[in-house]
Amino acid sequence: MSEASGALVPSAVRARFSALQGEFAFLDAPGGSQVPDQVGDAIARAMREASANLGAGYETSRRATETLAQAELNAARLLGCEPHEVTFGQNMTSLNFMLTRTAARAMRAGDEVITTALDHDAGVAPWLELAHDVGIVVKHAELRPDTTLDLDHLRSLITERTRVVAFAWASNAIGTVTDAKAVCGIAHEAGALAWIDAVHYAAHEPIDVRAIDADVLLCSPYKFCGPHMGVAYVRAQVGEGWRPYKARPTPMEPLGRRFTTGTFPFETLAGFNATVAYLDSIGGFDAIVPYERMLGQRFLDGLPESVVLYGLPTMSGRVPTFLVNVEGVEAQALAASMAQRGIGVWAGDTWYSMELYRRLGYADCAVRIGFVHYNTTGEVDRALEALAQAGR
Ligand SMILES: Cc1ncc(COP(=O)(O)O)c(C=O)c1O
Repeated sequence: MSEASGALVPSAVRARFSALQGEFAFLDAPGGSQVPDQVGDAIARAMREASANLGAGYETSRRATETLAQAELNAARLLGCEPHEVTFGQNMTSLNFMLTRTAARAMRAGDEVITTALDHDAGVAPWLELAHDVGIVVKHAELRPDTTLDLDHLRSLITERTRVVAFAWASNAIGTVTDAKAVCGIAHEAGALAWIDAVHYAAHEPIDVRAIDADVLLCSPYKFCGPHMGVAYVRAQVGEGWRPYKARPTPMEPLGRRFTTGTFPFETLAGFNATVAYLDSIGGFDAIVPYERMLGQRFLDGLPESVVLYGLPTMSGRVPTFLVNVEGVEAQALAASMAQRGIGVWAGDTWYSMELYRRLGYADCAVRIGFVHYNTTGEVDRALEALAQAGR
């Protein structure tokens, strides 16, 4: 998949996906990616050969136990943490509701949480519900005119009651990336937790929670060629201080498992293990990052004049997720005409980025075009041609 030079080979990558054997161009990965066959195969195999629960003295149970341990190791390697700092869940949103409520058991009315205007609502709504339930105060850090996070405004929101700074590492709507290390530093100077939504970022860039000094970080493997599930990292020193919402017999160790409610989705975890093996086999992010940046740059370089781009106009400070509109063309009509040309994109949504939407007002007029490592230069060119055609 990656040549001796380490470069990603698109044809070899695409050969791994039944879904990519046709002409249809999937430029919709920000809403959920395509999945290589080995992931589906691993899920089916787990259901055939390892359908059991943990801790019994026979083979299928041993396999389920091994699958879970392997998944924790894989997640730890992916995120740069220890296996006991990993918690699995149904998706990022459910995990975030669970972890925020757990953390908030130690919060009091008037305690403050800062979120940002770039965030997906899955990173904001859990705190708003806590504001409703227990009276915490939620603030939103503003953006600069170029859509990057205004760190000065963020700093100005800090008070002695700030308990958490929660932010999306990359915007799923416009692709803007936040300086995670800087925000974690601001949070820690205030004695607050740094709480990161890495769902969009994780599909495009490598993650090292220690390097940025994160306390909590969440992602969703279905955005990077895996099954539908959520993965969370919680720093051990932080998680050890939380009282988990758990059924009483659930063991307290290893740490991360105490925050998982009920039986583990073993077949999904087997799919996750296959996803990590797939990513490794194509050269990992060393191969993915330059390839995706090349696709993104090609898209930016080729944008017709009739196209308005929301967000950063260069690949610096962004991932290759683009929100655009074509002057005078209704977004739903544009997406429909692209679908007719065999190009899958989304239109007319807030992309759950409520504060961003309030500021940019794009919902009725924009189309989101997202490239990932299985897309090709040919697909970029087809998207550009469709945009140019719509603007004529
Ligand atoms: C940036 C971001 N955060 C959170 C979510 C929610 O993730 P999940 O669907 O796993 O709940 C999404 C989903 O699109 C997202 O893009």
